Amino acid sequence: MARVLVVDDEAALRDSLRRLLLRQGHEVMESADVPAALERLDQGVVDLLITDIRLGEQSGLELIARARAQSASLRIVAITAFGSIDVAVQAMRLGADDFLEKPFRVETILSRLERALEPARLADEIARLSRENECLRDELEVSEADDPLTGDSSAMSRVREMIERVAPTTASVLITGETGTGKELVARRLHRRSSRASQSFIALNCSAVAESLAESELFGHERGAFTGADRRRIGRFELAHKGTLFLDEVGDLTPAMQVKLLRALQEHAFERVGGTTTVSVDVRIVAATNRDLEAAIRTERFRADLFYRLNVIRIEIPPLRERPEDIPPLAGLFLSRYGQRPGGACVRITAEAMEALKAHNWPGNVRELENVIHRGVILCRGDEISAEDVTIELNETTSVLPGAGDLRAVLARVEREIISRALHENHGNLTAAGRSLGIERNLLRYKLRKHGLRA
Ligand SMILES: Nc1ncnc2c1ncn2[C@@H]1O[C@H](COP(=O)(O)OP(=O)(O)OP(=O)(O)O)[C@@H](O)[C@H]1O
Ligand SMILES: [Mg+2]
Repeated sequence: MARVLVVDDEAALRDSLRRLLLRQGHEVMESADVPAALERLDQGVVDLLITDIRLGEQSGLELIARARAQSASLRIVAITAFGSIDVAVQAMRLGADDFLEKPFRVETILSRLERALEPARLADEIARLSRENECLRDELEVSEADDPLTGDSSAMSRVREMIERVAPTTASVLITGETGTGKELVARRLHRRSSRASQSFIALNCSAVAESLAESELFGHERGAFTGADRRRIGRFELAHKGTLFLDEVGDLTPAMQVKLLRALQEHAFERVGGTTTVSVDVRIVAATNRDLEAAIRTERFRADLFYRLNVIRIEIPPLRERPEDIPPLAGLFLSRYGQRPGGACVRITAEAMEALKAHNWPGNVRELENVIHRGVILCRGDEISAEDVTIELNETTSVLPGAGDLRAVLARVEREIISRALHENHGNLTAAGRSLGIERNLLRYKLRKHGLRA
């Protein structure tokens, strides 16, 4: 850990550097001008000085010269505007060790700080930041895509209202609802509407992590904690410090992990796997599940004490079939998302098609509606999705189990449908379709002939 003094007249820039450095475990001090910075330096507690060259009326060059005169061991990094190499050179002459060009990229800052500080200690931090970067990239992709919580139903209004009310608090929120109802969307919105919005939103899908890795995913591990742990790894809990941790599919946590999570929630602290130091964190927890946790508690598959910790505030998202008035606005949203034709026209949907959508029972909820519209846009003729376009789709998605009948005939119909769908999804590529179905290409060929299908 180093003691870093950040000098910049722009609060926003100081802020983002501070956050980055704090996450690396450094102690950060800030000054907005030269006199304040010199006073800090005078106190002699700074390892690394990062200063902008342009500090309003004042010059960072002067600060660099005076700081260097004061201490030979102080590390100094200058911040320069993009393309101003001459200024950078001047800064280096006056004693800066390195310079950072605006605008910053996380990777650049990291590699420069690595040079400025002791390399050995930073290897760990780089691991952490590259991981964090990964998580942040996920986050960026979603927040850049405009993701409004659409719906005219009173149920949806209640959900939106609830989000506005609880987002500013630190209370844990449990989001429940069937698959595809928008739980993750709600979780992200909770984060964006909170005072933590500028910090990380870190998600962990509890059902997707292998049992043996779950603990390390959540809490991180120290170097040497187990075979293959060749460096320290920071867990999601720690990455979410000051931000929000989204525990998706929380109902799928194993009993052992439930105990560990409970402890971390109670104490706001944990140890990394294989470590002894206790890491304290300030994390807002948002959890989601499509399981009936109350039932899981009764059958002792979910701990009641953990449930009460997570379920401080409950946001329940009703299934789409219970709020058919949301279907038209949602269909409109997805048409505008997928139906933009070159030249500016947007695909429309006929009144009959809309009726068919409203009559459907939507086992896959909003995600299913999104898929139906997306495929409708691709498959429809011209710029209009007709009833025909959607009913075929709807029948396909619901007719996985056709009515009773001769078992062999039923199985053959299901097989045919699944194969034709795989072909469609893989654009007629036999090898890819075979792979997605888990069968050899030759077997797939044989089945195509059997069902009279063509690639
Ligand atoms: N009210 C809504 N407005 C706009 N888009 C929505 C809405 N609800 C869901 N969606 C969209 O539907 C899709 C599924 O949503 P999301 O992934 O949040 O659901 P989920 O409840 O987390 O599903 P699962 O249980 O399968 O994980 C996403 O593309 C999301 O953007
Ligand atoms: Mg989800």
